[in-house]
Parts: sequence; C-alpha cells; structure tokens
Amino acid sequence: ERYVVVIPAAGQGKRMGTGANKTFLSIDRDPLIVHTLRVFERDERCERIVLVCREKEKADIQGIISSYQFKKVSDVVTGGAERQQSVFEGLKVIKDNPVVLIHDGARPFIQKETIHRLTDHVLQNGEAAIAAVPVKDTVKRVNEEGDVEETMKRSSLWAVQTPQAFRLSSILSAHKKAEAHRFCGTDDASLIEYVGGKVKVVEGSYDNIKVTTPEDLWFAEAIIQQRKGGK
Ligand code: CTP
Ligand code: MG
Repeated sequence: ERYVVVIPAAGQGKRMGTGANKTFLSIDRDPLIVHTLRVFERDERCERIVLVCREKEKADIQGIISSYQFKKVSDVVTGGAERQQSVFEGLKVIKDNPVVLIHDGARPFIQKETIHRLTDHVLQNGEAAIAAVPVKDTVKRVNEEGDVEETMKRSSLWAVQTPQAFRLSSILSAHKKAEAHRFCGTDDASLIEYVGGKVKVVEGSYDNIKVTTPEDLWFAEAIIQQRKGGK
C-alpha cells in the first residue's frame, strides 16, 4: 500500500547564514530540494508529494518542478511562520490516503529502506513511527548559568530525524489540538505524544543529515562522493 509525503521546505535557513532558503542551495549541481524530491519521485510506494514552500518562492519551486519533470508533486502549499504550521498546512490538503509521511526538505539523503520500514509500521496498525539514531555524544542537561544539572543515560537517548510516518487521522487531530492549545513541538511525533499517542522508533542512518549549518555542506558533499564511489 502507498503513502503520501508532506515535505516542508518553507524555512528561512537562518543557521546556514546565507540569507536565503537553504533548500535552494546547490549540492552536486542540483538544488538541495531536488535531491529530496527525487527520492520520493523514484519510490514506487510514494503516491504523491505535497510540497510546502514560502509564498514568495512558489514561482521558483514551480520552475524547479517543471524543469526537473517531477510528476508526483500534486500540491504546492504555502507554509507558515513555524515548521509545525507549515506541516499542518500540508496535511490539510490530503484527504484520500490513510498513511502520511512527513519529511524535511533539508534531508536529501534519506533512503527507501528507512521510508518503507516506517510506513510498514503504520500500515500494520501502528499509530506513528519515527526515524532516529543512537546519540554518539554524552548529553547533559545544563541550566541558564552554564552549570551541569544532570548527565543523561546515553543508552536510552536517540537523536530523532525525519521521516516520521503517521495515520493521517491521528496526526491531523494531534495538529488541531496542538494549535488550539498553542502547544509547539519541535517535531511532529511530539504532538502525538502530547495527545497521549504511541510512537515507535525505527533505527535510521547517520548519513540522513539535515543540512542546517555551513559545515553540513561539506558532509553533504562527502556523502555524495561516497555514494558515487559505491556504485
Ligand atoms: N520549514 C518550513 N516552515 C518553517 C520552518 C521550516 O517548512 N516555517 C522547513 C525547512 O524548510 C526545512 C525543515 O522544515 O526543510 C526543517 O527545518 P530547519 O532545518 O529548521 O530549516 P530552517 O527553518 O529553514 O532553518 P533555520 O531554523 O536555521 O532558520
Ligand atoms: Mg528552523
């Protein structure tokens, strides 16, 4: 069975520091968002793509979709000020498919295997499944004065990524409730947790990076070279 993917790409890329939306930055000659879209365009289980972008970048996005001949982008939706609002806007246009995947436009290296493991969990009656990797560093809780308050037990800590897969009805109602209560989460699964739902972690891959700061462009280049060499 097939899924619909919502791709939020309506950010400002502030931490990248180029003064522009980083999803348009060129990586190996193509815009970052093109690498992300290609994965879903090529995944036979992906039924269609809902792309969320900024109003003023809509024309640029439409230009990219037509010049790269993406066939699965069914909707280009205007995003909001926060990622959570952008995702919500994307979810609102899906009516027909019970399984939805949410994936950051800025994570171009996601692979099909992870996507399928996540959507399989939801298809087999799970409510939500998220990609994550065990943290490599020791994590401490620190107060505003810079003093350590607690060292977390590393073996129970996971760094959460996207994709995150959901039953459409549960993620939509979680977003509605979060909006009504002005709850702001840093990922979509936290909204399911907020309403008391169950979230399954699926081990993803360390190379599924979110291109966020300038160093990430070096890592991105290295991942591309490594994959080319592996062919
Ligand atoms: N995003 C979005 N709408 C927003 C904010 C973010 O659709 N209002 C998207 C981004 O385009 C990105 C993904 O959500 O693909 C993950 O967000 P993040 O890495 O934080 O990207 P930016 O918000 O663009 O970067 P920054 O936080 O550094 O400004
Ligand atoms: Mg952001």
